[in-house]
Amino acid sequence: RASAMAVTAALLTAPAAAEDGYRLWLRSDAPAEGPIAISRLGDTPTLRLAEAELRRDLPAAANLPVVVALASDPAVSALRLPVAELGNEGYLVRPSSIGGRQVLLITGNTDRGVLYGAFALIRHVASGGQVANATLRSAPKVKLRVLNHWDNLDGTVERGYSGESLWDWWKLPDYRDPRYTDYARANASIGVNGTVLNNVNAKADSLTAPYIAKAAALADVFRPWGIRVYLSARFSAPIEIGGLKTADPRDPAVAAWWKAKADEIYRAIPDFGGFLVKANSEGQPGPRDYGASHADGANMLAAAVKPHGGIVMWRAFVYADTDPEDRAKQAYTEFKPLDGKFADNVLVQVKNGAIDFQPREPFHPLFGAMPKTPLMMEFQITKEYLGQATHLAYLGPLFTEVLEAKTGRGQETVASVVDGESENHQLTGMAGVANIGDDRDWTGGTFNQANWYAFGRLAWDPSLDSAAIAREWAQQTFGTDPRVIGPVVDMMMRSREAVVDYTGPFGLAHLMATGHHYGPGPWVSELQRPEWNPVYYHRADRQGIGFDRTRTGSNAVAQYAPAVAKLYASPRTTPESELLWFHHLPWDYRLKSGETLWDGMVRRYDRGVATVAAMRREWDGLRALVDTERWEKTAAFLAIQEREARWWRDASLSYWQSVNGLPLPAGAAPPE
Ligand code: GCU
Repeated sequence: RASAMAVTAALLTAPAAAEDGYRLWLRSDAPAEGPIAISRLGDTPTLRLAEAELRRDLPAAANLPVVVALASDPAVSALRLPVAELGNEGYLVRPSSIGGRQVLLITGNTDRGVLYGAFALIRHVASGGQVANATLRSAPKVKLRVLNHWDNLDGTVERGYSGESLWDWWKLPDYRDPRYTDYARANASIGVNGTVLNNVNAKADSLTAPYIAKAAALADVFRPWGIRVYLSARFSAPIEIGGLKTADPRDPAVAAWWKAKADEIYRAIPDFGGFLVKANSEGQPGPRDYGASHADGANMLAAAVKPHGGIVMWRAFVYADTDPEDRAKQAYTEFKPLDGKFADNVLVQVKNGAIDFQPREPFHPLFGAMPKTPLMMEFQITKEYLGQATHLAYLGPLFTEVLEAKTGRGQETVASVVDGESENHQLTGMAGVANIGDDRDWTGGTFNQANWYAFGRLAWDPSLDSAAIAREWAQQTFGTDPRVIGPVVDMMMRSREAVVDYTGPFGLAHLMATGHHYGPGPWVSELQRPEWNPVYYHRADRQGIGFDRTRTGSNAVAQYAPAVAKLYASPRTTPESELLWFHHLPWDYRLKSGETLWDGMVRRYDRGVATVAAMRREWDGLRALVDTERWEKTAAFLAIQEREARWWRDASLSYWQSVNGLPLPAGAAPPE
């Protein structure tokens, strides 16, 4: 009996729950040194959450009492703090004297700002900072920080690798799964303030009354966490659920239908964010079906939500099977002439590169080319082309590489376009295609959580450093032990380049297998649409490899500002990491290292495999320092990744050899 009790006690105290991935980076709910005194001035649901978060997550590290309060509270305004610059969502955390007491004050102009301040303090302490001297101040540089869920109404997730959709449409709106709150809390902790619930390949059903009620229930859960709900809208919905004969945006009956639909949504969700639209792309309906432009379509929807303060995020991811132009050029060709034609509550949402979320793409030429239009960045957090659930690929460096890119217009960077600084746009946004599903650890694997985290942090401030983000994520996720953090951050920072190396170095892209996009397929040539075939992108033949996008080829380089176009015009001035994206070069082209292109390629493929092997060894060394559950899952994933890195390398090299007839250079690892 006694031993049975001991076993039960052991089970109850077993660290499994504390160790599993469910709690993401918000793990420190056991104060080490007793509770800190926390008080709150004012009362709103969001302020209450801020207080509760501090009680739950702040490991007691100092005996300085913490006070959460709005800046407008008399006790705070008496301090005359510089709060104007915090805007609507910024926060200030600093030691202050309130009512004659020394406290740590967390304040902001809105309760959302205060909540973000609470999370900033929790992050500060969980990554090794002190409470007593904490002085933190930040305001988001980007207004709309939005997750795009590619979730279908049947519960599947397009390009989702972490289970089914979180949204249980069957039980909504009546049953609100507590997990929705956990989801909102995690997002609020990194500053995400919007979520598009359904797939861009949208079904019109999502705009019917039953689904509006379901979305409204989710919006109610998310609201106190500062998160607004958006919906993907199917352009032909007026026909499919409205009984109209057309969805022509210039038809007054169509505009009236959307206006009534928007009014209906806003009656249920007063703070509804607006619509995301994929139109005339990959078979989706759109204004082009009626000879109208993307601006006509976007503006009609924008007019419907405008009276309610809503916005439209109109995607620029378009390419047509009827268009013989280089696919990489089509979005620019279509959208650039529309600059200045969009209503003021429209953002054009542009993928980071001109093809499709490849492991490496040069920045999309639309950034910098549409100064009169707010351009929203679209990153893909779910790793469709980077090993999906299992391969470790920390995307922070992919995101920042694009954000830091110079557009060629003076000192302008992609980040300064996105955050509005460049053209003084107030309406700004960043979208991330979510990697979240109903898997217990949300994202299908521990390290995938870092990509969700990094997206949120960079949407808040696109100038953050990806290594610093990796470090703070790792500290919150695994604890601050430097023996763990050093190797973890090192693995993360090498990981994306390793994927580039073993899937397609030197700017090669779109070499994946058909349909599921998992694994290699550079030989695929038989798909119906030419631009779906990998051979369209690499153009390898006996003489050479790469896509000539200079004047002698598709001239896509001319879509960049002259300063950048000039660099890309010559292989000598093109960064070698993007070489074959822009140039078709002979296999014996001399790289800066002096080796031939072919030898350099082989070395990169080998390096990619070697890096994954090294990452595995680093992780092996952490066995005793990381909880079993997360250690074992990651170890198993790294074994998969190493095997599949070899698969990518060997399959790709064999194929290139079948084309170029060249031997592997001396010293290359033999294929298995
Ligand atoms: C990719 C992806 C599709 C998705 C599309 C998009 O092509 O494979 O599943 O629908 O991007 O972004 O619209």
